Amino acid sequence: MSAEIPDWAKTRGMPHVLSIPKYVPGKPVAELEREFGISNAIKLASNENPLGPSPKAMDAIIKNVGMTNIYPESTGPELRKSLAESYSVSIDQVILGNGSDEIMQMLAHIFVGVDDEVIMPQNAFSMYEIVTRLFGGRSVKTPLTYFRPDLNAMAAAITDRTRILFLSNPHSPTGTIIGKSEFEELLDVTRERGVILVLDEAYREYVDSSDCPTGVDYIDRSENLIFLRTFSKIYGLAGLRIGYGIAQPWLIQLLNRVRPPFNVNLLAQDAASAALLDSDHFSRSRETNSMGKKFLFDGLNSLGFDPIPTQANFIAFRPNCDAESLYLELLKEGVIVRHLKSFGLPGHIRVTIGLEDQNRKFINALEKASEGLSRDKSL
Ligand SMILES: Cc1ncc(COP(=O)(O)O)c(C=O)c1O
Repeated sequence: MSAEIPDWAKTRGMPHVLSIPKYVPGKPVAELEREFGISNAIKLASNENPLGPSPKAMDAIIKNVGMTNIYPESTGPELRKSLAESYSVSIDQVILGNGSDEIMQMLAHIFVGVDDEVIMPQNAFSMYEIVTRLFGGRSVKTPLTYFRPDLNAMAAAITDRTRILFLSNPHSPTGTIIGKSEFEELLDVTRERGVILVLDEAYREYVDSSDCPTGVDYIDRSENLIFLRTFSKIYGLAGLRIGYGIAQPWLIQLLNRVRPPFNVNLLAQDAASAALLDSDHFSRSRETNSMGKKFLFDGLNSLGFDPIPTQANFIAFRPNCDAESLYLELLKEGVIVRHLKSFGLPGHIRVTIGLEDQNRKFINALEKASEGLSRDKSL
């Protein structure tokens, strides 16, 4: 048996599938502990909620686990109803996904054909490119300016072949945001040009700034807009895989045609419904993040590591030594972060804001790990 694709099979499949870039996930704790023979490693690499899931969500899972012999309701009507109420939209404006990733893929499935173009910032969440290439589309990458997506460049990149424009706000991996008026301009241009604007708000719940657009404010007047949110971040349910999208009914109806039946499992639906009601857990998650952000910022600044001001639950920074070597040294210290090479920012590292003791462990490990490394000559 071999993992090599036989020549005959290569001519049967679609050639573009072979060139789809692989998704690079954060390294799992268990894998690191096995590799280095260490224990008590911490992972601050995937922007998960360090407090864990809401206790209410855990109760819902335990309560409903005996129901897992039956299929879930295919469209998740209970959860969609709660979401529709909380956003003051109608239930036919809400779709659930097996993570918001899946909704990105459904959108590409509908709108992207061979050689169609999809615009995204150069240093963005890799799923934008993966879902584009999955359907034979071409990703058109626009630069960041001061670590923020450059919306003028994105608008200028629109052509007659553009089908989708992906924008994350806050932007991952830098945590920067774009403001309301610049977003509104981009929304107008995409609407005029018949381009679907996907506003990815995976980290929106962490934002403090008052000048940050929120997708729901624009849905009524923007038939080309869909905004995506997830239960993987502030709601602490990344392992259950559940996210949602809100748009006008025509688009949700189309998405439902490509949505696999039962795409969101029963426990995920129940846990998410319970998590939505747990305002205590939500507030504690925000507070933990604010406190951790301040601690990490001070720590990174005192090491001279240039943290980028963030509105999310992670901080990207440029160490004054080689970022890849530093990433590897941190692994030896039992700390998993994300080297941003796979995001196209090779000199940078991203750390997820953790609990107090995790943040302290990270800063101590960083100090120790960077001591032995020579300074990056380009700085
Ligand atoms: C910008 C961005 N969007 C979406 C997601 C994925 O969310 P989900 O877990 O709902 O698929 C992530 C996850 O890391 C992300 O960083």
